[in-house]
Amino acid sequence: MFDVANLRTLYIKYGRIQLGNIERLFGRYGDEIKLKIEHGISMSYEVPKIMMESNLFHESYYDSFAIDGLFHDIGRFKQYEMIGSLSDSELENLTGIKDHGRLGEILLQSFEIQKQLGLVKNPYLQVLQKVVGNHTKICNPEYRISLSDLNSIFKEYSLEEIINYRKWINLLIGAKIQLVVEADNVELLQNIITGKLPIVIYSEKEKWVTEEVWKLFIENKPIFISEMKKHGTWSNNSGVILRFGLLPQKANIRSTLERILKEDYFRKMYEKMSNEVVDKEGRKTVVNDPLIKEGYLYATLLTENIIKMSDIIITREQREQALELTKKIWYK
Ligand SMILES: [Fe+2]
Repeated sequence: MFDVANLRTLYIKYGRIQLGNIERLFGRYGDEIKLKIEHGISMSYEVPKIMMESNLFHESYYDSFAIDGLFHDIGRFKQYEMIGSLSDSELENLTGIKDHGRLGEILLQSFEIQKQLGLVKNPYLQVLQKVVGNHTKICNPEYRISLSDLNSIFKEYSLEEIINYRKWINLLIGAKIQLVVEADNVELLQNIITGKLPIVIYSEKEKWVTEEVWKLFIENKPIFISEMKKHGTWSNNSGVILRFGLLPQKANIRSTLERILKEDYFRKMYEKMSNEVVDKEGRKTVVNDPLIKEGYLYATLLTENIIKMSDIIITREQREQALELTKKIWYK
């Protein structure tokens, strides 16, 4: 169904053309836009890897997951071209399009774009459009599924059979969205560790992590950047703990957490963060904030407990039990 290597080449070509457009329009483009091209390529390896680790799909799905990863953020370039920023709320305010995922879905409906990306008449296109369109926020409730509902459907039936039969197509789309989001989070961690996404902290006066962010993290409550900014509790440093909290709280598949522990991602991220702080004048100092170290230890402990308590798929109940146990040990 796919020639993945060729699709990667076409994706890079498309990305470069978009970068050219952005440069002409704004006279600049941030490194984050360049990173987006690399991000799609990395995700085209990461998503199928997670699919294999999860053991939920027959091997024949491998390439389709590579395609999901490759194109999931295809809307990002157009978003920047349209509004000059990567903010989804700005996109919605200015264009009415909900987010970059939905924008990507719209792009993938255009024959011109399909031609550019080598997807014309591809029987998988209809699934891809929905995965891309819903990866930021699920619009169709039928895609809101639990991975534990899959049983062995996708081990017994091939991708072609599912597409032709159609009965389980929404289940497939829902499962794929979850795997893309899972891989996206792992990618974020890896990018911090390798230094592609540098953590640069500008504020010397503030604590690295505000008490409020720390409390939300320990309570397992989601940290909303926009909310924190509104309340004046956001600091650049909050992002650090936000990223720490991300994976143990969001991963749906046990093997993802097992890999994170095995590769020692939390410690590596801690080492990345504990070194230099750059102030606005570019002066560098070395700091070590104890809360950051606690964040690393807490994330590790929570991850261990979730693994201990889960099957292949992590249910909400198992996550909550693990959280209770972690708090008990932590505050002992
Ligand atoms: Fe995205």
